[in-house]
Amino acid sequence: MTPVTAEPTQRGTPSVLELPGASERLRSRLADGLTAVNALITARVDHDDPFIAEAGSHLTAAGGKRFRPLLTLLAAELGAGIDERVVAAAAGVELTHLASLYHDDVMDEADVRRGAPSANAAYGNSTAILVGDLLFGTASDIVADLGPEAVKIQAQTFVRLCSGQIRDDRPCPAGTDPVDYYLGVLADKTGVLIATAARYGAMFSGCDAATVETMRDFGERLGVAFQLADDLIDIESEADETGKTPGTDLREGKRTLPVLYVLGSPDPADARLRDLLTGDLTDDARLDEALRLLRVHPAMDRAREHTYAVAREAQDVLATLPDSDARDALHALATGVVTRVG
Ligand code: IPE
Ligand code: IPE
Ligand code: MG
Ligand code: MG
Ligand code: MG
Repeated sequence: MTPVTAEPTQRGTPSVLELPGASERLRSRLADGLTAVNALITARVDHDDPFIAEAGSHLTAAGGKRFRPLLTLLAAELGAGIDERVVAAAAGVELTHLASLYHDDVMDEADVRRGAPSANAAYGNSTAILVGDLLFGTASDIVADLGPEAVKIQAQTFVRLCSGQIRDDRPCPAGTDPVDYYLGVLADKTGVLIATAARYGAMFSGCDAATVETMRDFGERLGVAFQLADDLIDIESEADETGKTPGTDLREGKRTLPVLYVLGSPDPADARLRDLLTGDLTDDARLDEALRLLRVHPAMDRAREHTYAVAREAQDVLATLPDSDARDALHALATGVVTRVG
């Protein structure tokens, strides 16, 4: 089976994009669409100033799965299919995502992204933040050509994404259930942009309002499942699978679902792990030990079950759509999102 990939997105792509069961014709339309999205992004991140051109294209050139633009293209297959406007919407979403990655690596003090030095590691925090802003501006410029409704959606999406990122960086407020807080943060920081990716695809391919809303709903649930899987991957996967440094969440004191489960259980057998998870994990030996204990802890299976359940909820949303190759591929995509390792 030919994976749906287009240069330069080869690194770490196949598990999410394989879309088992999709016809060769659908696969080839999606691959052509991704090629057009990549070409538009490459053209738009270019700049007269050679340094800005280099820093702006740094992460795009390094790789990435292009999951969000793929979702936009696939959602468009529910309507009239992929055209110039759908490609522009997909590029706008990927550039918005890219902007958030430049900022996220500053927040998370991450040194590696897409298998390359992060922008903050390569150019320093100030440049990484400003290039992220510039990329968001470029995304808005592209989306503006699609009309005021598209701009409004992108603006509201970014407000929610940033509010999720702000809350992700702060402790759970007293009196709030930590799991509820965490799931709300995921919907904001990750769910909303993936919802917009799916919504744009349906919108710009002429789908009716009910289908556009179905895709938004599907995308938001899929986005939460995507982030839940990312949080498990941070504990379980190796750097060569993700292009990122394993254990970054733990080192930064982020309490993701399996950690919340361990901290919420009174089991005396977990005393050492709880001690590590509530202490300083910037120490490499403590971080390694915490990762080792967590990887084999039943909390991982429990968190994985929850992740699969959210993906199934996303798949259930698709049931209202008529039978089609694209609908089956969206279903397969949801499975790929939660079974991926990178
Ligand atoms: C990383 O997103 C940020 C999250 C929301 C987890 P991706 O896993 O889609 O990153 P790339 O685009 O493939 O690098
Ligand atoms: C980031 O979440 C979500 C964004 C909105 C960018 P993470 O911090 O878990 O993303 P990675 O693991 O660094 O890609
Ligand atoms: Mg991060
Ligand atoms: Mg983060
Ligand atoms: Mg992560």
